[in-house]
Amino acid sequence: MAEKNSIFQRKEVLDFNGELEKYHLGPLWDAIPDLMHKEPTPDAIPYLWKWETLHKMLMEAREIFTPERGGERRAIYLQNPGLTNRQPWGWASTTQTLYAAVQLILPGEIAPSHRHSQNALRFITNGHGAYTIVQGQRIFMEEGDYLITPHGLWHGHEHLGGEPMIWMDCLDIPTMYAIGGTFFDPYEGGLEQPSVPDNYSARRYAGGMVRPISDRVPHIAPLGAYKLSGVLASLDSLSQFEPDPYDGFAVEYINPSTGETANPTIASWMQKLPGGFRSKAHRHTNSTIYHAFKGSGYTIINGVRFDWSKGDYFTIPNWAWHEHVVTSSEDAYLFSVSDRPIMEKLYVQQEQAYEMNDGHQEIKDEFIPIIP
Ligand SMILES: [Fe+2]
Ligand SMILES: [Fe+2]
Repeated sequence: MAEKNSIFQRKEVLDFNGELEKYHLGPLWDAIPDLMHKEPTPDAIPYLWKWETLHKMLMEAREIFTPERGGERRAIYLQNPGLTNRQPWGWASTTQTLYAAVQLILPGEIAPSHRHSQNALRFITNGHGAYTIVQGQRIFMEEGDYLITPHGLWHGHEHLGGEPMIWMDCLDIPTMYAIGGTFFDPYEGGLEQPSVPDNYSARRYAGGMVRPISDRVPHIAPLGAYKLSGVLASLDSLSQFEPDPYDGFAVEYINPSTGETANPTIASWMQKLPGGFRSKAHRHTNSTIYHAFKGSGYTIINGVRFDWSKGDYFTIPNWAWHEHVVTSSEDAYLFSVSDRPIMEKLYVQQEQAYEMNDGHQEIKDEFIPIIP
């Protein structure tokens, strides 16, 4: 690791740095301690968004905005307070790499089809009756479903049901913005029309353990939607055995034609933490965004207690110590997304157990929202 050196405060050095700036040049010897530190020090901070607030703001947005071409979606994103200085729009960053949002669609509304280089996923939290149409396939959505639209796939929505629907979106918007990889195309003619039977991919993969032989050639999204019932059945069966000390009982959504994560840059998990469960603390280079799908508890992040209950969202930045505690006697279910695939592709994925105090952090503070 490079260290700060007092030599850099000398007048002749400061003058020289100023001289370099005139030519759009920079002194590595001065910059290196800030840019190449010993371990990750993300600008993103741990944060929590209460469901009551998100719901209230979505309901107010009902009157303010309708999903038409241009604005595209009635989505409100979770802006990490540590990343607001990214311009423009804080890069819509919930973590260094990922965007998460809540989206509302009302009965009768159409969100036009489009495609983009960002990889996207959604997790349905409230309601049913809307479909998403992905590459000509209408996929009907209900609570607990997990859907993917990786880069380059056309997708749009229409709500044929009778009550408002809300879901969580997650995209790699900040990553694409940072690397200069953003492409976006509107679909001519608004909403794409069906070209294959409804729920086609889920019906092709109804078995769960086998794949149609034509998918021996890997597809980017052979299965468009993952039903909650199958995920819960897997977790219940897994719960007959010992929980993972850090994550309880957890499963990852995978691409059934490759065995890789369902979305190429964003890993998604559903985890079941039994009533009263207390995990041990660890940290990892990947950042994570959690949605409390069921139950209540708290997560200690870098010594700060974040209490959560059904519907809340919270984020754990890179390399932050964290452990989960379920306070209710009922099981808690956490849906989460992380940038682990990005970290793995860049060869920086690491994980470390908290060794002190039998693996548990001391609680030094409790989360309070930051007033801007
Ligand atoms: Fe989109
Ligand atoms: Fe973790």
